[in-house]
Parts: sequence; structure tokens; C-alpha cells
Amino acid sequence: MNLIGSFNANVGMHAGIEILSKGGSALDAIEAVTRLVEDNPDDHSVGYSGYPNLLGEVELDASIMEGTTLRAGCIGAIKGYRHPISIARRVMTELPHVMIVDKGAERFAEECGEVRENLLTPEVEKTWRDGLEGNGMIGWSGIPEMLTSLLRRSRGVTRDPEHATGTVDVMALDGAGHIASAVSTSGWAWKYPGRLGDSPIIGAGNYCDDRYGACGCTGWGEAAIRAGTARSVVLYMKMGMTVEAACREAFADLHPLLKGTANDMNLVAMDRHGNACGMTSAEERQFVVWRSGMTTYEVLPRIVVVH
Ligand code: GLY
Repeated sequence: MNLIGSFNANVGMHAGIEILSKGGSALDAIEAVTRLVEDNPDDHSVGYSGYPNLLGEVELDASIMEGTTLRAGCIGAIKGYRHPISIARRVMTELPHVMIVDKGAERFAEECGEVRENLLTPEVEKTWRDGLEGNGMIGWSGIPEMLTSLLRRSRGVTRDPEHATGTVDVMALDGAGHIASAVSTSGWAWKYPGRLGDSPIIGAGNYCDDRYGACGCTGWGEAAIRAGTARSVVLYMKMGMTVEAACREAFADLHPLLKGTANDMNLVAMDRHGNACGMTSAEERQFVVWRSGMTTYEVLPRIVVVH
């Protein structure tokens, strides 16, 4: 049994470890871990208290995948519900669809009995306003026609690595040999309303297959969409590469996209035996790993690739 995540999954690892240790499923474990990250008010890249879009609205994306059946559920640009991962799971299990976004996602969340709430904390609202004001946007009228120029002018804010992209990746291999993977995010802070990154897109930010392994991405979602990164890593493992070689190959694919930009990409991946790899084009990023037999998870450095 194995449970792996991006560093910010640490707040939920205990819940996933307990589920797996008691014979629970990989799917239950990754959902439980992700929900606790979505609840974490100190994590401004996921769920409650996530950084908002240009209009100051917290807009969340998530996806969940089951490696045994290749079933998946995805939620995009949902507002007012702190647990998009659970809504994504219900899309996967209850609807004949894979992805629902925006108002449809909110309608479905309500039908699922999820509680609607304000996810924008006063602290985050202040950061959002400071970001706009710090970039000369005081007095911004907020009319929709202005958003494109606002996005251009907000470039300094949206490129701040502390604010721009976060996201949580979680993947597990359970005692029955099944793999599942989850990704949840508030996306690119100060993003254009309705912008979707890689997190809710199966094959881009999230992919798993019991036969080969799993991969989740954080960082510049536009690059992972364009390179089909998560699916690529799993396919490279299918072709016989180790999990580390597969991640390196995916970074080679990403290289022309990342080169010359200020953007970074981060991968967490696992092969079908539970061997883990964390890789980043940023500096000194970590990830968390638990294997059966360990009393708790360990924090490991990611391999750094230069672009
Ligand atoms: N990787 C998260 C995003 O780009 O939204």
C-alpha cells in the first residue's frame, strides 16, 4: 500500500493512511486526504480560502480517477462549494459524463446536498485587492469588457510564484492493488473568470491506470494541457520506463514550452508497484510519501530538472 502527494497534502495524509491501513480503498483514501487539504485555511491554492479570479471569486477545479476502470469525474470553475473533489467523485459514479463546469457543476453540487458557502476569507480578499492595487488597478470599474486588459496589466501579480499556482496531487495504491488519483485546485490566482487549468482535465493534470501507475501535476497548467503531461508519464511507464525516467521524458516534452518563461511544472508520479517520484523545474520542492509499514509519511525532496 502506498500514498503519495504533493507537499501540501501533508495536512491530510493521516486520514488516507488510516483508511489504507484498515483495508480501505485507494479511492476513499485520496478523497479523504484531498478534502482535508480543501479545508485547510492556510493553503491558498486549494478549496476554502483559495486565491480568487480577477473578479475576486474563488473558482475551484478538481478531478478524480480510478485506475481499475479508467472511470473519471471532473469539476471545473465551480464557485461556493469547498469540496470539488467529492463532487467530482459523484460525477464519476452517478452521471454518464466525465466533466461538469460552472453553473452546471453548482447545480449538481446542490443536488448532491453539498453546502453552499463563501470561500473567500477576509485575508485572501485583502491579498486579492492588494494585488490589483499594487499593479496600478485602483479604481478599476470591473466591467467585463475590461478584463482582458486587466489580465494583461495583472501579469506581475499572476506570475508571483507564491500566488500564481499551487494545487494538490494525491495518489494511492491500496491493498487490493487498485490505484486512484486526485487533483484539486483554486487554479491560477487572478485568472480570467472561467479559466480551466490542467487539474480538472484527465490526461493533462491527472491520470492513473492500475496496470502502469499514476501521475499528477502542479504548476503551470496551460503547459500540462498542451503537452498532455499526466497521461504521457503513465504511457511512458507502459512503454517500460521507470517512474523516474517517465517523469524525465515528460519534462523533455515540456522543455520547449517552459524554456524562456517564468513558469514551472511539478510532477508527482507512482508506478504500479508504488515506487514514487517527485520532480520539479522549480527549486527545492518536496513531496510526501507513505508505504505500508511506515508509522507516518516522509517528506522527500523532488528531483530538480533545469529548463
Ligand atoms: N496546475 C494548476 C493550474 O494551472 O490551475
